[in-house]
Amino acid sequence: MKQAKEYIVFPLDVPSMEAAKPFIEILSGHVGMFKVGLELFIHAGPRIIEMIHEKGNTKIFLDLKLHDIPTTVQRAMRVISELGVCFTTVHCGESKKMLEAAVQGSQGKTGVLGVTVLTSVNSEDIRMAGFQKQYAEDIQKLVIQRATMAKEAGCAGIVCSGHEAMQVKKTLGDGFFAITPGIRPSWEASGKDDQERVMTPARAIQNGSDYLVIGRPIRDAVNPVEAARKIAMEIEKSL
Ligand code: C5P
Repeated sequence: MKQAKEYIVFPLDVPSMEAAKPFIEILSGHVGMFKVGLELFIHAGPRIIEMIHEKGNTKIFLDLKLHDIPTTVQRAMRVISELGVCFTTVHCGESKKMLEAAVQGSQGKTGVLGVTVLTSVNSEDIRMAGFQKQYAEDIQKLVIQRATMAKEAGCAGIVCSGHEAMQVKKTLGDGFFAITPGIRPSWEASGKDDQERVMTPARAIQNGSDYLVIGRPIRDAVNPVEAARKIAMEIEKSL
């Protein structure tokens, strides 16, 4: 069985290798995966992936949220699949062909995750973006539609909020991963930031999330290791 800490994905949302290094050193062994996003990857490139590999055996999630024509995505994915990362992301967007191209490019070496609807987005944003009323009134509908598209395209799973995880697992099965950002521990008191559809770790796990992306509650804590441990304990209780 998966240990509680293995559910935690820590995003290295920092600008450089130098800034990432202390987090990698102290949190290896306390989280299941490090997530490398655009800011750090644009600055450091594949060297950051090498550094994480060198510092231990924590898995890596390269979160580049690709979105382009299928050929471009396929070619990019081919390069990503040589880096030794566990997961990478592609926006579900409006094209199943793009998702299929991503899966093809991954050569079975890297799991492709479809980004359904960002957790920073709310109903009003969906309405303003020109989506039909039914999706603005019920974001979960849009998430399920996109998740279904991702599964049909051969993706390993999707990124969705904890609010939608249960329906995703129910509709698409246990083997299809639900990765959930927008997690705020019960003891977190930092107030409101840009995340809209938030949830506690325990609730997200109960809803069926397979991995929880938890950034600021760990990164901004006085003691990040202690914060990760406390979150793992919260997860443990809900398993
Ligand atoms: O916990 P915190 O809000 O700090 O986490 C931020 C991280 O969550 C960022 O790395 C961001 O890219 C990621 N995220 C995501 N998918 C979303 C929303 C946020 O991967 N839908």
